[in-house]
Amino acid sequence: MAQRDQSPGLLGLGVASATSASSPFPLLAIETSCDETAAAVIGRGGEVLGEVIRSQIDEHALFGGVVPELASRCHVEALESVVAEVLERAGLDLGGLGSVAATRGPGLVGCLLVGLSYAQGLALARGLPMLGVNHLEGHLLAPFIGSPEPQFPFLGLVVSGGHTLLVLARGVGEYEILGETRDDAAGEAFDKGARVLGLPYPGGVAVDRLAQTGNPAAFDFPRGMLHSKDLAFSFSGLKTAVWQHVQEHGVPSGQELSDLCASLQEAIVDVLVRKTAKAVAASGVDRVVVTGGVAANSRLRGAFESAAADGGWTLHRAERRWCTDNAAMIGYAAGLRMERGERSGLELDASSGLGL
Ligand code: KG4
Ligand code: ZN
Repeated sequence: MAQRDQSPGLLGLGVASATSASSPFPLLAIETSCDETAAAVIGRGGEVLGEVIRSQIDEHALFGGVVPELASRCHVEALESVVAEVLERAGLDLGGLGSVAATRGPGLVGCLLVGLSYAQGLALARGLPMLGVNHLEGHLLAPFIGSPEPQFPFLGLVVSGGHTLLVLARGVGEYEILGETRDDAAGEAFDKGARVLGLPYPGGVAVDRLAQTGNPAAFDFPRGMLHSKDLAFSFSGLKTAVWQHVQEHGVPSGQELSDLCASLQEAIVDVLVRKTAKAVAASGVDRVVVTGGVAANSRLRGAFESAAADGGWTLHRAERRWCTDNAAMIGYAAGLRMERGERSGLELDASSGLGL
C-alpha cells in the first residue's frame, strides 16, 4: 500500500510528483454540484477503488431546501477531508493518481466552483491531466459503473431533482434528447408535494417511505402530458393538486397522509414508465437505463422491473447509492472520456445551466 502524504495539507510540498500521464487511472473525481460533497477514486476497468459522500442534508433541512450560499460554504469546509478520506480508502496518496476530474455543471455555480477549482489546483500542483464532467452524463452512465464500457445504444431516463430527460445514447458523448420536462422535474414534484404535505426535505425519501403503507389509488392526481404525442413531461400540476387537497381538507396525517404520498408517487411513476414505453416504441431501442435521484424510489424501481418484463426490455438501473449525487459516476464518465484522449484546460469554467 502506498504511503500517505506526510506533508501538511494535501497540496503539501516535497512529496512525490505525479505518475506518468499515460494512463488517467487511478482517477480522482470530485462532485460538488449541489448538497453532497463527494469524492471517488476510479480504476482502469471503471471500478470504484474508494468513495466518500458527505451529505449536507442536516444543514439544509432546517430551511426546507438547499440554500446555495450555505452549500458552497459546506463544500469548502468538507472537501479537503473528503479527499483525504477517499485516498485513504483507496490506499493511495496524491503521488499515485493518474488524473483528476470534477463536475463542471449543471448545478449551483458557487458549489461547482469549489470542486472544479480544487481539481484545477490539484492538477496544476501535481502536473496531472484534468477533466470537467457533465453531471447529467455522470447520472446517465451510472448504471454501468464497474464495467469497462457502457452498452450502447440505450434509452436513458434521467430523473433527478433538477432534470427529467429521455435520452437516446448511441455512444459516449452521442446523446439525443427525445423528451424533457416543460416545468418541474420529477424530483421537484416529489419535493414540492412533500413540502405541501408538511414532510421534511428531501421530500422524495419521505414520500417513498410513507407510500409503503398507502393506497396508490386513493386519490386520482393528474398525469401531465401523458397523452401528448411527444415525449415531453409536465409535473407542475401535481403540486397544485396536492396544494388544493390540503386547502380543502387541511394538512393530512395518519393513513390519509400515507394514501396521499402513495397517490402522488403513483402519478409520477405512472407517467415516467408510460412515456419511457412510448420512447422504446418510437426509437426501437429496448435497452433501458433508469437513473438519477428519483431512480432510488422503491415504487419506480418495481414499476420499471415489471414494465421491462412485460415489454421484453433489457433494464439497467443505477444501484441505489449511485442514483443520488455521488462522485463515482463523475469519475466513471471522466474515465471513459479520458481514455478517448479528452482533457480540459485549467481555464475551464463552471457552467450552471450546462445541457447534456
Ligand atoms: O440526483 P440527485 O441526488 O440530485 C440532482 O441532481 O438533482 O436527485 C435528488 C432528487 C431529489 O428531488 C430527491 O427528493 C429525489 O432525488 N429522491 C427521491 C428518492 N431519493 C431521492 N425521490 C423519490 N424517492 C426516493 N427514494
Ligand atoms: Zn444529480
